[in-house]
Amino acid sequence: MFKQDVRDKFKKHFNGEEGFVYASPGRINLIGEHTDYNGGFVFPGAVDKGMIAEIKPNGTDQVRAYAIDLKDYVEFGLREEDAPHTSWARYIFGVCREMAKRGIEVKGFDTAFSGDVPLGAGMSSSAALESTFAFAINELFGDNKIEKFELARVGQATEHNYCGVNCGIMDQFASIFGKEGQLIRLDCRSSEYRYFPFHPTGYKLVLVDSVVKHELASSAYNKRRESCENVVKVMQKEIDPKIEFLRDADLAMLNQVKDKISQEDYMRAEYVIEEIQRVLDVCAALEVDDYETVGKKMYETHHGMSKLYEVSCEELDFLNDIAKNCAVTGSRVMGGGFGGCTLNLVKDELYDLFVTKAVKEFTEKFGKSPKIYDVKISDGARRLD
Ligand code: GLA
Repeated sequence: MFKQDVRDKFKKHFNGEEGFVYASPGRINLIGEHTDYNGGFVFPGAVDKGMIAEIKPNGTDQVRAYAIDLKDYVEFGLREEDAPHTSWARYIFGVCREMAKRGIEVKGFDTAFSGDVPLGAGMSSSAALESTFAFAINELFGDNKIEKFELARVGQATEHNYCGVNCGIMDQFASIFGKEGQLIRLDCRSSEYRYFPFHPTGYKLVLVDSVVKHELASSAYNKRRESCENVVKVMQKEIDPKIEFLRDADLAMLNQVKDKISQEDYMRAEYVIEEIQRVLDVCAALEVDDYETVGKKMYETHHGMSKLYEVSCEELDFLNDIAKNCAVTGSRVMGGGFGGCTLNLVKDELYDLFVTKAVKEFTEKFGKSPKIYDVKISDGARRLD
């Protein structure tokens, strides 16, 4: 268990001291991709992989942070001008700053942390890191004054203000609110959420990692968001100034402004409007254990992400085709895209065939082996020791 490793490394680096240990998970998302920043629905759950950090206030105004997996050590102060250059340290620094902006008197601390969420696989390792520190700082310096939803916003604001990614709220929300065996449908416009027990008897959820590293910060993500906002602006002018998000639009409205927007923006908005509806369809299907419909919607999402939103890639499309050829119930690229994993809903009896075929054919074609992760839906941010 890597918790013990974190404890050992902390002790070693910080003169035999002991602190408090916190953990936060990565996430999957059954359906509802790129809908969060459009005021739509998402349907994530936390997974049994995440970040663990040991933290101890050190009585100074400096943070001393050791990234165990990278064997990298960084020290930084807590004022705005003290922002570290090292990218992993900026997540921790950003969380400290965002907590301070919300009235928490953040002081210096020592920390060592490690994770088992694969980096760049679309499972939100960065949200896991942010949530771990937001949760811990709230407890250690804030008397738990900040409520849970605001802790998720701290992580999101960290991405916006310190890491250059204009992400939505889904990843940080899932990492904080996750519950074992439950998916959570979040309405990103009203912030209302509902837990849905998820025990697909006879099926497994399998992630196939294309090992193509996605680079969300590489502006492509922000560009998708801009397209959506462009369309909203035109709709406000042409249809109704009260339209705030693509959530407020339908395809008829999109067609009304077709001549006033680029072909590219049209495709982006079409995908988003359809995807928001798909989340509701999947929730309804789950309530009657209709996994065939859930799977069908997953394939539709993949098609939309590949052909309209254009955030898939050759490797992910290839994995999606293998799933289809094996008669896997549902399969799609998961998360922001541009690499990372496909999420697959696979009947128990097809599991071996699918995994064997995916590994063999992918390796033959791309000369590298994909990674397989079985997913267990688990708890959100918490203190371990
Ligand atoms: C990334 C972002 C999320 C969300 C997904 C796509 O994971 O951090 O806010 O937009 O992409 O659904």
